[in-house]
This record gives sequence, C-alpha cells and structure tokens, in this order.
Amino acid sequence: MLNHKGFDLWADGYDRSVGLSDECGVYPFAGYRNILNEIYCRILSRSQKSVLDIGFGTGTLAVKLYEQGRYVYGQDFSEKMVRLAQSKMPEAKLYQGDFSLGLVDELKRNKYDAIIATYSMHHLTDTQKISFIEKLILLLNNSGSIYIGDVAFKTRIELEECMLRTGDEWDEEEIYFVFDEIKRAFPKMKFSPFSYCSGLLYLDI
Ligand SMILES: C[S@@+](CC[C@H](N)C(=O)[O-])C[C@H]1O[C@@H](n2cnc3c(N)ncnc32)[C@H](O)[C@@H]1O
Repeated sequence: MLNHKGFDLWADGYDRSVGLSDECGVYPFAGYRNILNEIYCRILSRSQKSVLDIGFGTGTLAVKLYEQGRYVYGQDFSEKMVRLAQSKMPEAKLYQGDFSLGLVDELKRNKYDAIIATYSMHHLTDTQKISFIEKLILLLNNSGSIYIGDVAFKTRIELEECMLRTGDEWDEEEIYFVFDEIKRAFPKMKFSPFSYCSGLLYLDI
C-alpha cells in the first residue's frame, strides 16, 4: 500500500496513468471520469457551495468545482499532491494530514454541503471506513451529501469475479467497498455502478 511518500512519487504521472486505465476500460480506473462527472453534476445541480475533498490528489474534481465558485477544502497526506492542488486552487483550504488518524483540526471546525472522496478511502479497513464516514456525516450541513467514488462492488461475489478477471494486476493491499456490506452501517446509503469495477456510493441527509 502506498504511503504519503509513495503518492509523492506518483504525483507527476498520476493523471496520465489514471487516464490510460480509464480510457482502456480496465481495472482499477474504468469508469473514473464518469464517476467524477456525476459527482460534479450532482453538486452543481443541488447548489452545494462548500466541498470537502478527502484525498484530493492532483485536484482533478476539486479544481472543476473550484472553477465553478465552490469553496473547496481538503486533506491529503502527500506533500506533493497538496502543493500541486494548491497551485491550481490558490484560495482553497488544503491541509496535509493522514485521514486514517482523522481530519486535521482546521477541517473539523467547519461544516460542508458536500464531502467527496474519490479513489482514496480504499486505503482504510472497512471498520475504519465506517467510523470515518460516521464522523464525516456529523460535519454535513442540512441537505448535505457524501459522495464516494471508487473501485467498488455491489456484492462480494462481484468483487471476487473482478479479482479473478484481473489476475496479477489485482491490488491485494487495497480494501474495496462492497456496498451490500457497508450499507448495514448506513441504511440510507445508495449505490450506482459505473463499470465492472467501480461505483458511486452516496448519502444524502
Ligand atoms: C488514487 S489518489 C485519488 C486522487 C483524487 N481523489 C482522484 O480522484 O483522482 C489517492 C489520494 O489519496 C491520498 N491518500 C491516500 N491515503 C491517505 C491517507 N491515509 N490520508 C490522506 N491522504 C491519503 C493520496 O495521497 C492520493 O492523493
């Protein structure tokens, strides 16, 4: 599993490698742009103004929202990703910090209309995911939403089929969302699949 230094090294080539995997329709990023686009459209259509991005990376989605006048906040543990994203969004409130330890204090002081996490939370165990999402829900404004786009499956059987199909390329260290299992902790959560290996989990309060 990549640590913050690993993501520093990946920062420069990140957009290209994601783009290639998405264009070819293969694991792990098949469906990536469509998921980000869906989150973008939902936030704009609901006039959600403040957005917290968990693990924003190079800022692919956050920058688009920033350009639409959204107040962007975020946390990422890669110093290089923070620098890259901040250069594209000078007014955004971006912080370096490991979200497996929770949010930095500055981000805990605010409330948000939308909290987004794309391809970042699969570094947490399922128990950590649930406890983190529970804390994020408390930071939502009325009519706020959480959007999680990632390698994700409706059922464990679908995950296992994808693992077999992917073979050696499957990343054993990443812990992907299985909607039917995570939904037990969040009965109002919904799921839209975007490819054989990706989907959007979302929760409107
Ligand atoms: C695969 S990239 C996804 C970036 C972006 N959200 C996207 O959709 O393109 C994962 C990002 O999450 C960050 N990340 C992973 N684990 C993290 C952690 N425990 N705390 C903070 N950031 C983390 C990485 O530094 C990286 O920028």
